[in-house]
Amino acid sequence: MIGIAGAGKVGAQSALEIASRGLDDIALVDIVPGLAEGEALDISHRLSDAGVDVDVSGSSDFGALRGASLVIIAAGLGRKPGMTRMDLLSKNSGIISSVAKEAAKYAPDSTVLMVTNPMDAMTYVALKATGFPKARVVGQGGVLDNSRFKYVLAKKLGVSRGSITSVVMGEHGENMIPVASHTYVSGVPLTSLLTEEEVQQAIEDTRKVAADVISKKGATIFAPGVSVARMAAAIVNDTKEVLAASAYLEGEYGLNGLCIGVPVRLGRGGIEKVYEIKLSDRERDWFNKGADTLREAISTLAA
Ligand code: NAI
Repeated sequence: MIGIAGAGKVGAQSALEIASRGLDDIALVDIVPGLAEGEALDISHRLSDAGVDVDVSGSSDFGALRGASLVIIAAGLGRKPGMTRMDLLSKNSGIISSVAKEAAKYAPDSTVLMVTNPMDAMTYVALKATGFPKARVVGQGGVLDNSRFKYVLAKKLGVSRGSITSVVMGEHGENMIPVASHTYVSGVPLTSLLTEEEVQQAIEDTRKVAADVISKKGATIFAPGVSVARMAAAIVNDTKEVLAASAYLEGEYGLNGLCIGVPVRLGRGGIEKVYEIKLSDRERDWFNKGADTLREAISTLAA
């Protein structure tokens, strides 16, 4: 069973995507009375047409998470137009700390998949609050950022998104790194297809595109739901898919004691392996800048 804490826009959309794939039964939990039950019913009715028989339930009681193998946390405040993800730090850290403790209480053997922003800092908060081994606390950010990078590149290059191989790592925030030095269009290096200036513009567009959606429709919903479902599938089905995700580092990339986006192999045990890739000097600077931002955020929380 997959538990989802937070049945707001992203939690409910993630539930819909996961249920539509028939991945597992789902228990949605939200503090707003009736909300999780309402979303669960709506999703369940939607499944009839597809002939999918997973059970989707909703509750305002965290006991509903009992026995979950995966707990997705999408509870807490979202960005308003003009806000950065980091602006949510102090409000969401209290919520995530208490929600993560509930997850640990009712689903002690689960893997936690963090969605709430600022996601890397919240992944760290959940790691500490649950006391779980580092492999079992992972954050979703890079998968979504990479969908956006592919969208931007496909438009610029006039190619199918499906022929682009890329990764977006680092902080899921202002310092995210669409790794242009390792981006290919069916083996053709991106750097041979675009000028340095065009690559830089694609990176900037990728960084800004979520804020653009929020300014226009108030929240990002559909793309995050698919990204969460993709990671959930890798964990629940033990697929060993390699995706960028927020992981607690102990020496990798020369960093220690924080969670940040890096390529990882996902399986039933959560993060099975962290991959180190060679970054260009500029990418490395961005990576370190993101790490500095996250270190500072974590120290504020500890104070
Ligand atoms: P939302 O406001 O629609 O939903 C949040 C839900 O959390 C609400 O239903 C609220 O009642 C619930 N909640 C608050 N405190 C709770 C608690 N203690 N226990 C259980 N439920 C609680 O917000 P939305 O749009 O769904 O976004 C959720 C979070 O996901 C935000 O922090 C947002 O920034 C983040 N996000 C992260 C993405 C990522 O790629 N990592 C992508 C999109 C959003």
